[in-house]
Amino acid sequence: MVMKNKNNSGPELFETFYSTIYQDRWPTLRAALERPVKHVAWLLPSEPNRQHPLSPRIEIHSEAIERGYFLDLASLYAPWALDVQPNETVLDLCAAPGGKSLFLAHALKGEGELLCSDISKMRVQRLQRVLKEFLSPEEFRITKVETRDAKLWPLSQKARFDKILLDAPCSSERHLLQDLNHLKDWKSSRSKRLSKEQGTMLCSALEALRPQGRLVYSTCSISPYENDELMSWFEKKRQAQFRFLRLDFPIGERTAFGHHFLPDQCDYGPLYVCVIEKS
Ligand SMILES: C[S@@+](CC[C@H](N)C(=O)[O-])C[C@H]1O[C@@H](n2cnc3c(N)ncnc32)[C@H](O)[C@@H]1O
Repeated sequence: MVMKNKNNSGPELFETFYSTIYQDRWPTLRAALERPVKHVAWLLPSEPNRQHPLSPRIEIHSEAIERGYFLDLASLYAPWALDVQPNETVLDLCAAPGGKSLFLAHALKGEGELLCSDISKMRVQRLQRVLKEFLSPEEFRITKVETRDAKLWPLSQKARFDKILLDAPCSSERHLLQDLNHLKDWKSSRSKRLSKEQGTMLCSALEALRPQGRLVYSTCSISPYENDELMSWFEKKRQAQFRFLRLDFPIGERTAFGHHFLPDQCDYGPLYVCVIEKS
C-alpha cells in the first residue's frame, strides 16, 4: 500500500500514502480536512436547549454562541455508541481533555460510576477543570479522574467495567494538515507504530470489561492501520472473546468492521468508531 522513496519529503509521502488509499476521493477529502473544524457546543447543565437528538446539552455552534465546551459533533458518536445506562460502571481510558467524558457522565444521570483516566498529568488537570465546569453536581459526584497508562493498568482490573471507551491516541491527520509544521517529518511508519500501541490498549481494555460488556474503540485517524486493519488484527488475536456490533448511525458510512465519519461526506469528523461486545 505504501510507496517508499527515501528522498521524498514528509508532505509528499503523506500525499502518496493517502491518495493511494482514498484514490479519486482523496482531493475532496483532503480539501474537507483542510477546512476549519465545524464545532458544536456542549452546554453548561443550566443551559439545555432541548433540540439536538444526541443530547439536550448540545447546541449547534454559530458565531452567536460564546459559551460551552466546543467539540466536533462526530466525536460524540463514540460515547453515544456505548449506550451507557444509569447505575453502570464506566471507564473512559484516554479521556483528556474530556469532551466524550461529558457525554458519558450525563448518560449516567448521577447513578453509577465513571472513571476517567489519561496518561498525561497535565492533560488530567485540564480534564478535571472541564468536568468541574461542565458537569452538574450530581454528574460530578460519581466521576473520578486518575492518571493511568491504558496499555497496562486495565490488566489489573479484571472484568470490572460494564462499558469502556477507548478513544485512542492516533495520527490526527486533520490536525497535521492544519499545521504543516507537523507534516514535515511524516512517515507511514508513525501510523504503524501508533497501531501497535492501540492494539496493546485494546487487548488490555478487553481484560477490564465484564462478559457481555461493551467496548467502543475510536480514533480521529483516516489511516486504515489504526482503524479497520487494526480491528481485523484484533479479531484474529482475540478470536471468540468478543463480537462486533453494527449500530445504525444517522450519519457517516459503514466500513468492514466499524463506522467512519468523514468531513467530505458528513461535514463532521474524522471519527472512526468500532463497537465490540465481550463474549
Ligand atoms: C484522542 S485524545 C483523547 C480525547 C478525549 N477522549 C476527549 O474526548 O477529549 C488521546 C488521549 O490519549 C492519551 N494517551 C496517550 N497515550 C496514553 C496511554 N498509554 N494511556 C492513557 N492515555 C494515553 C493522551 O494523553 C490524549 O489525552
